[in-house]
Order: sequence, then structure tokens, then C-alpha cells
Amino acid sequence: MIVVIDNNSQFHGQVNSLYQDSDENIISISDISRLDEVVEGHGSDVILIGPSVPTKTAIEEAARLSVSHPEISVVMAVETLDPGVLREAMRAGVKDVLEQGSSNEQIISSISRASEISRRLKDSLDLREEETYEEQPQELGKVITFFSTKGGVGKSVISTNSAVALAKITGKRVVVLDLDLQFGDVAIMFQMAPNHTIYDVVQVIDRLDGDMLQGFLTTHSSGIKALLAPVRPHESDSIASVHVKAIIDLLKKVFDYVVIDTPPVFSDVILTALDESDRVYLIATMDMPSIKNIKLAIQTMKQLGYSTDIIKFVLNRADSKVWLEIDEVEKTLGIKADAKIPSDRIVPRSVNKGMPVVIEQPKSSIAKSIFGLAEKIKDAEIKPASQPGESRNGREASNLIRRLA
Ligand SMILES: Nc1ncnc2c1ncn2[C@@H]1O[C@H](COP(=O)(O)OP(=O)(O)OP(=O)(O)O)[C@@H](O)[C@H]1O
Ligand SMILES: [Mg+2]
Repeated sequence: MIVVIDNNSQFHGQVNSLYQDSDENIISISDISRLDEVVEGHGSDVILIGPSVPTKTAIEEAARLSVSHPEISVVMAVETLDPGVLREAMRAGVKDVLEQGSSNEQIISSISRASEISRRLKDSLDLREEETYEEQPQELGKVITFFSTKGGVGKSVISTNSAVALAKITGKRVVVLDLDLQFGDVAIMFQMAPNHTIYDVVQVIDRLDGDMLQGFLTTHSSGIKALLAPVRPHESDSIASVHVKAIIDLLKKVFDYVVIDTPPVFSDVILTALDESDRVYLIATMDMPSIKNIKLAIQTMKQLGYSTDIIKFVLNRADSKVWLEIDEVEKTLGIKADAKIPSDRIVPRSVNKGMPVVIEQPKSSIAKSIFGLAEKIKDAEIKPASQPGESRNGREASNLIRRLA
């Protein structure tokens, strides 16, 4: 059931005509004050607030509904879309904001997505009522983060392949969390359709539990699960470090390993991920800028109080003929590489196919080196990232990074 609130006949007519041949029930009202009566009388999956409703009223109404009817998805249509409105709408729990003049495809896709979120939420709320969800009290999962302050060094390739390798050799539950919130590549690496992303999770963060969270994960044909990055870069604005901490804490309760892919920046969100990590793999390629960046990242992490025990190092494209010796690199960094991953043309091919090399070509030398890395992750005694009383404060950390930069 879709409720459309609008007295702009053009927009309203466009939406009605899109659904005239479908089974979808549409109720149109022009006065927003009748909304509660309609929702109580008929129920609703999606409420579409049209451009004739003042933006402030629409946002207030969405915020109110997100508390009274969390299972209903609100979509807004506005005359002109500006980033301020978008941010406020997202904060109020609005699932999408359309601009007047949006194409039929955009409107349908936005409503379908909102309706799917609503369906999932209803399912998980029903499950909760039936109390079928069992918190798993066993040991918390380990958090393994792959990081580098430099782009394009192989963080996404290595994190996704390591996650699959880890699942294969341990038979345990592994999830990949894509924290490259603006330009996440995990969906591409696994050729997954991002029907649900971390953005949807943040919309329900106040009542999130393990069951609900599982509903937002995407499964690859290999069986690996992933919580994908937002589809639209602006959606990352509403994702804060407190949300990320809550999500990681919950993933640790449900999975044995949480493997995190990151963007090439030290942001508050990434510092939170590092705080939560049992092990951080810094990735470098065989070139001076990349090595220099890793040296700086190690220094920064030490200054931020991270235990050196959790900081590990992976050399990617380690066989590149670039007049650098691996042991020189290790000496410069003061850390031995846990894995030396060769360069191989099968990597870009596997990325394009959305099938990790450890599945596609498990006997290749690159796959073998990744399985070797997964063995180390599995075998290692994993120490907690923060010593008691040493937990970092995001703001202080950001200031320190600014000074270091
Ligand atoms: N060992 C390798 N051999 C050959 N190609 C590789 C290898 N590792 C990575 N690549 C290629 O380099 C490209 C960049 O890798 P990837 O996307 O994993 O880097 P990234 O560090 O995640 O980048 P970003 O910071 O932009 O997210 C990939 O498209 C991949 O094809
Ligand atoms: Mg990446």
C-alpha cells in the first residue's frame, strides 16, 4: 500500500499512472493532517510526500513516523533538491528524496526500494515479536581491517579475497564490511546488487538487532556475506562513527570474522574501525610513495596509542621489477610483511567478473599467497586493539592527524 500526500495534480497524476496497471494499492490524500487516519485505517508500506507539502512539514512528519511506525518507509519529493534538505531528510529517516521532474524509472525504483525496506523491517519486527531470535553468547568474532592511506594499492582486492579464503579454510562465518562509504568497491568485487547497504542499517540503528542486521547483508555465490557501502555517495553523510561502532559490535556477535575494507583516509569512521580491530593490515605496493605512506600510517597509529601487536603489513604486487628489494622495504618500515602478494593479470579479470581469484583460480600463485595470509589471520593469537583506559577519542585523534599532516 502506497499513500501519496500531495495536491500537485501533475506529480500525483504521474505516480498514479505508474501504478494503474499494477496490483499496488494507492491512496491519495491532499491534506497531510489526514495521514494518521489513513495509516491506522488501511496500513501502509510507503508514504510518498509530494512537492506541494512544505519541506519542513514533510521532514517533521517523517521524523514522527520513524518513531511511531518504524516499519513504514517515507519517500519525499521536493521542488529542488539541495544538500541541506537532503541531509535533514536523511536524518529524519526519509528513505529517498526525489526531485520534481524525476523520471518514471527513478520514481518506481525509489518506491520499490522503500517498499522492500519496509517489507524487511516488518519481517524482522514480526520475528522479534515471536522472539525467535537467539543472541549467540559464544566468543565475539575477530575484526580484521585492511587499510592504507594510499588509493589503488589493493585494499579491496585483498580484503575481499582474504575474507573468502578465511571462510574456506576455517569453515567459519565471515562477513565483509565496506567502510569505503563514498566509493565502496566491495559490491563490484563480488558483483553484488546493492539492494541494501549500511545506509539502510543506519536508518534503523536505534532498534537494530542481529536479525535485522542480517536482513541488510548481501550474499555472494561463494556464501560470503557483505554489508555494502551506500549506493549514492551523499548517503555517507549520515553515517557517523557511533553508528559504525554499533554495527561492528553487532557483527562481532553474529560472525566469527568481520573483515573491513576501507577508503584511503584516516577519518573518524576509520579510527573507530581501527579501535574495534583485533588486527590491522596495512597494504603497500612496491613504490616509494606507497612505502612512505605506510611508514607515516604506522607512526600515526603508534602516536594514537594503538598497540604495535595489532599492526601488520602486506606487500602487494611484491614481484614488481622496480629496483626496490623487499627486505629493504621491510627494514625501512621496521616490520616484516605477513604476505607478499604477486602481481597477476588474473586480478583485473577476476575483478571484472566479480569472482575473487581464490575461487576463480585457487591454484594460482596469487591465490596461494592469499590463502597463506588467511592462515596467518586464522592462526594468530589476536590481541585487543585498545588497552583498557586507552580508548581513543575521535576528536583528539582527528586533531592529531591534522597536526601530523
Ligand atoms: N596483485 C595484483 N595484481 C594485479 N592487479 C592488482 C593486484 N592488486 C590490485 N590490482 C589491481 O589494482 C586495482 C586497484 O585495486 P583495489 O581496488 O583493490 O585498490 P584499493 O586500495 O582498494 O583502491 P581504493 O583506495 O581506490 O579503494 C584493481 O582494479 C586491481 O585490478
Ligand atoms: Mg578500495
